[in-house]
Amino acid sequence: ATALFLDCDTGIDDSLALTYLLAQQDVEIVGVAATAGNVPTDVVVANNLAWLELCRRTEIPVHVGAQNPIASRLRTAEDTHGPHGIGYAELFPASTPPSDLDAAHGWLRAADDHRGELIGLVTGPLTNLALAVRADPELPGKLRRLVIMGGAFGVPGNTTPVAEWNTVVDPEAAAEVFEAFSRFDAPDPIVCGLNITEQLVITPAHLCRLRTDSGDALLARHLAEALRFYFEFHDSQNEGYVAYLHDPFAAMVALDPDRVSGIAAHVAVELNGALTRAMTVADRRGMLGPPNAQVVTQADTDAMLDELIDTLAGYARH
Ligand code: BDR
Ligand code: CA
Repeated sequence: ATALFLDCDTGIDDSLALTYLLAQQDVEIVGVAATAGNVPTDVVVANNLAWLELCRRTEIPVHVGAQNPIASRLRTAEDTHGPHGIGYAELFPASTPPSDLDAAHGWLRAADDHRGELIGLVTGPLTNLALAVRADPELPGKLRRLVIMGGAFGVPGNTTPVAEWNTVVDPEAAAEVFEAFSRFDAPDPIVCGLNITEQLVITPAHLCRLRTDSGDALLARHLAEALRFYFEFHDSQNEGYVAYLHDPFAAMVALDPDRVSGIAAHVAVELNGALTRAMTVADRRGMLGPPNAQVVTQADTDAMLDELIDTLAGYARH
């Protein structure tokens, strides 16, 4: 089985990403870390535990992450994800406790237990991973692959005119992670920014199909309640009654990077600009340094959406 470690800020689309991963028979999720972002860390922990309990996967450890970003004041996005982070979904609180190991050490243990084999996936701010790299500067070289949902390349931001939410919450962490992975022995992170994740668009018709194909299973109804809030949010932003599936996109890339293509670039994060703080800058010409990332630019998002819906429906049915 493929070992995967997920670090997320659940989060409506994070919960879809988690469900997609749980549905994979040949993937072993070795840990789920919670990072502050869409909602505070404790709420993310509660969501991750409740979601795993709903899916009867309580053996998967949930690691409590940092309460705050490295240098910024924490901001959360209840307007986007609902007061509890998972839209209108109401899950039973979990009876399982989180792991004693914090998120940064969860990363380190997973990487050491699966040296050279571990796929890391971050669908929230990069705080925990940055702290993990501080604790073990060798960590980047121990991973098989790192996939990040974050940034915006050549398109407007969704949080400032130029910056994307996960990067805005903790720009220093993002900068540290890209720098750490610049080291030659580390695989270049695959970066899924808004330029591509906003192409994976779910509509009410897809959600209807998901529910019907699942036999209206409980899990599918929870996903629908979560997504109903996300549709309303996107509608309020004049994007239409649809939702962008940023985090499921990154999860699908994590398991099969060959389904997308991109460009090698040196990615750096602006930390100072009064207007541009947290902007992700991708340099293709070696002006800032050699490539340290693969920036995803193309994907067959129609095929991806079909597979996502089928996978979620099939999983919910069981
Ligand atoms: C990212 O921000 C969060 O609100 C979503 O879960 C996603 O990870 C998109 O900018
Ligand atoms: Ca997220």
